[in-house]
Amino acid sequence: MTQSTEIINEIIKSRRSTKPRFFNGNKIDNSVVWQILENANWAPTHGLTQPWRFKVFTDSGLEKLANFQANLYKQLTTEEKFKPEKFERMKTNVLQSSHVIIICMQRQKSEKILRDEEIEAVACSVQNMALTAQAYGICSFWGSGGVTYTQELKEFLGLSEKDLCLGYLYLGYSDNPATQSRRSPIQEKVEWFD
Ligand SMILES: Cc1cc2nc3c(=O)[nH]c(=O)nc-3n(C[C@H](O)[C@H](O)[C@H](O)COP(=O)(O)O)c2cc1C
Repeated sequence: MTQSTEIINEIIKSRRSTKPRFFNGNKIDNSVVWQILENANWAPTHGLTQPWRFKVFTDSGLEKLANFQANLYKQLTTEEKFKPEKFERMKTNVLQSSHVIIICMQRQKSEKILRDEEIEAVACSVQNMALTAQAYGICSFWGSGGVTYTQELKEFLGLSEKDLCLGYLYLGYSDNPATQSRRSPIQEKVEWFD
């Protein structure tokens, strides 16, 4: 037991968000990506709705996604606000990744479970993926900028009206993974009642 507690503490604490621009272009085996997805599927879920849905982009799928989102950014941005470097980054972030998993929430037909709880369940599934990636020496980054919350992306992904896109999980290897982050002490965020 000691060994597994040490392992989980280490994996949780060492997981970092490494931006895709630090990825080295090496490919993750699809079998490992499936293991990451399998672990996502074991997240807790109220009413067992399992609302997580994932759209996995790799190989030529990455090119489609890169072009789609860069062009969409251009289309949705006024001339004064348009930044060519952002347009380029919207492509390179995707193209430098081995796989991009787009994180979606499928709304339950009956809508019995609160929408916030469905989003919470999806977030749990994403953390399972980030921790699994960490255990495999794979870098991950949850990004929710750019075109994440647009109707056009929802349509591109084939989502229904009440479903949501919650961001992209970029996966890749890096020669220079992020190691630093910071947190204020947990003691400042906890109240005990005893
Ligand atoms: C829901 C969610 C959305 C995020 N979106 C972004 C984002 O759009 N851009 C960004 O730079 N980081 C984003 N992040 C990652 C955070 O920046 C990162 O977790 C934070 O800086 C702490 O770094 P660490 O994960 O290495 O500890 C997001 C994280 C979460 C949980």
